Amino acid sequence: MEEKHPFGHFDDAAREYVITRPDTPWPWINYMGTRDFFSLISNTAGGYCFCRDAKFRRILRYRYNGVPMDAGGRYFYIKDGDIVWNPGWKPCKTPLDTYECRHGMGYTRICGEKNGLRAEVLFFVPPDARCEIHRVKLTNTGKTPKRFQLWSFVEWCLWNASTDMENFQRNLSTGEVEIEPDALYHKTEYRERRDHYAFYGVNRPYDGFDTDRETFIGMYNGFDAPQQVLAGTSGNSVAHGWSPVASHRFDLELKPGASDELIFVLGYVKNPQEAKFTAPAVINKAQARKMLQAYGTPSGADIAFATLKSYWDDILSRFSVASVVPELDRTVNIWNQYQCMITFFMSRSASYFESGIGRGMGFRDSNQDLAGIVHLIPERARQRILDIAATQFPDGGCYHQYQPLTKRGNNDIGGGFNDDPLWLIFGTVAYIKETGDFGILHEPVPFDNKPGTEVSLLEHLKISFAHVTDNLGPHGLPLIGRADWNDCLNLNCFSDNPDESFQTTENKTEGSKAESLMIAGLFVAEGKDFAELLAHPAVAADPKYVAKVRSAVAAMETAVKTHGWDGEWFLRAYGYYGDKIGSNENDEGKIFIESQGWCTMARIGADEGLCDKALDSAVEHLECEHGLVLNTPAYTHYIKDYGEISSYPQGYKENAGIFCHNNPWIIIGEAMAGREDAVWRHYCKITPSFTKDQALRKVEPYVFCQMVAGKDAARPGEGKNSWLTGTAAWTWKCVSEFILGIKPQYDGLLIEPCIPAAYGTYKIHRRFRNAEYDITIHYTGRHGKHFIPYTPGRHTLEIEL
Ligand code: GLC
Ligand code: GLC
Repeated sequence: MEEKHPFGHFDDAAREYVITRPDTPWPWINYMGTRDFFSLISNTAGGYCFCRDAKFRRILRYRYNGVPMDAGGRYFYIKDGDIVWNPGWKPCKTPLDTYECRHGMGYTRICGEKNGLRAEVLFFVPPDARCEIHRVKLTNTGKTPKRFQLWSFVEWCLWNASTDMENFQRNLSTGEVEIEPDALYHKTEYRERRDHYAFYGVNRPYDGFDTDRETFIGMYNGFDAPQQVLAGTSGNSVAHGWSPVASHRFDLELKPGASDELIFVLGYVKNPQEAKFTAPAVINKAQARKMLQAYGTPSGADIAFATLKSYWDDILSRFSVASVVPELDRTVNIWNQYQCMITFFMSRSASYFESGIGRGMGFRDSNQDLAGIVHLIPERARQRILDIAATQFPDGGCYHQYQPLTKRGNNDIGGGFNDDPLWLIFGTVAYIKETGDFGILHEPVPFDNKPGTEVSLLEHLKISFAHVTDNLGPHGLPLIGRADWNDCLNLNCFSDNPDESFQTTENKTEGSKAESLMIAGLFVAEGKDFAELLAHPAVAADPKYVAKVRSAVAAMETAVKTHGWDGEWFLRAYGYYGDKIGSNENDEGKIFIESQGWCTMARIGADEGLCDKALDSAVEHLECEHGLVLNTPAYTHYIKDYGEISSYPQGYKENAGIFCHNNPWIIIGEAMAGREDAVWRHYCKITPSFTKDQALRKVEPYVFCQMVAGKDAARPGEGKNSWLTGTAAWTWKCVSEFILGIKPQYDGLLIEPCIPAAYGTYKIHRRFRNAEYDITIHYTGRHGKHFIPYTPGRHTLEIEL
């Protein structure tokens, strides 16, 4: 076990993070679920679950930004004599004798002990099941018999998380429940168009129940003082409108040393329209009963948990490293890959910073997320690529977001982000290099989900590429459109109305000269990859077309060198009027990270020394104690011509925050330039397992966050937006391919590390298609590379480079 931190520590053998006090600087959460039922759970059991869509199928109600923070979840109350407490400390906050929360792979175990009574709750979602299991184990650790009571408690959301907190004139009259000995059923709106309900069941007869919040909690009480719990009773209430909840009560007794166990199942059921009811107004409970039977016995729950364990064991057995740096090993072997899976599942929809109602699946985000999971769940990556491509328009543009429930493009956000199409090439290349599945290129994929418009995925890639060459600006550089990767560099917006969103307000692209060096770099990098794919014998594209791609890439390189170089670094953009952005000529925002990252990854002007110089400039101007900031100097006031970027106070978000997503671009650029010391230094700064000061970082020390406050902020080093960020996939790509140097290629693995020689000896286990590789690497800093052609089977190799 590693050194103790004030709030917790890693347990690598168990693949867990152990939180040792409940009052963490911010709720430290975990995710449960692997397919379409997902849960967010904090270290005090706060959070919620949903099925498929965090906005439209929200099961538990959750109040973002409440006071206190993170109120509401799955709460167990214990009344032992006059003392009421919760195993996870909240909401009663009764001081516990011991507390521990272990966040593991897809499960969370919370254990509290008070006055000789120990309560351990294991929360998990079995793979492919639509329910949470709450396995409660109670033990009398004292010397005298104990009589006590236990209450469960959850509060239902009325399905649509958005209207649930808006439309009270309706909501407060719609709530309906059914009460059965095995479970409390939530069936609001089931009478009309809904074909789904939720239930909270338990594997033993209960002594009392409540389904009406006011009866259980009391009009003037909070979650910390439910009136029924204080009185040792249940109201046996039946909710009619208002706020339906589910609570069971048990009156229990335990001899010294004895244990008891209850298994709760919190589930979601969707019925066929024609089989909704078993009698007028009585919901068809067959599926719920099946789940209760399957999981409601110790052996059933054991099997489900073992299945979950083996799901993650299998996932995490595909790539692992054994090095001399424990922080590196735990990041690579456990937490980075886990976070990649979660970002793939969630996109940017539901976290403690994303409300689950705001954003669907981003076109660019989801494509980038693929880079983190193609080696883990290739079949699902394949489906995702086809889903994303189907939201593209015939001209190559695309919806910026789509809704997971319908997989349709989201009209509210629209399109016009000119980097978007290129990410489809990025995602597809990553997938084919991993799997060798060139067949995906021939899959028919429609435009804007309109049947009858299908062309092959390869055609989609071609029009993605053409979308850039069809939209070049006065310098032959890509027009930026609404924005490029940086959503906040809004060069065509000119918004002076605080009531409109920069993301959706009118976009004055007509007549605009705004060009992006970030897209230029992305185009060159992805264009080279695209040409390599097209020229591969398995694709054998028309050589004339391949030549055309190559010459467009070469022309872009020339345009960047001619019009995109500022003397010491790459410019960031040209504005609407053709003015320079990210230039030494500017007073603020003289240098930006994105163009340094992408142009150095694309190796533009490398022979002339431009890449080394740009990387040196990034170190000199952008690097600070906690990572590389996005731009500097930060904007000190709002600039209408630039938009949202200048709306943020200095040091936050896109205005000179350490936007961790783009740090790996520089690190990869450094690796391509062969500068291992810079690679390692930048990597350690943003990687959470190297965090020294957990209190300052504030958010979870086991996952990357989107943003860490930059040098100009009030508290540099403070993290925000943990979990759902492209940082996960990019740091994965960076560490696996560029630091440890295991690069999937169409026909094998290329080994090309870039790590300080002191850490240069390590072992890699890598599953690649139908092969397993055990590779011992000795990297001495000579920048060598070694190609391993793909052959199925087991291979053990030792390589010195
Ligand atoms: C957020 C968005 C992503 C965008 C980035 C920079 O992370 O999800 O799409 O590229 O911010 O603005
Ligand atoms: C804001 C955020 C940016 C995010 C965007 C999504 O602009 O600053 O990070 O990508 O919202 O709409």
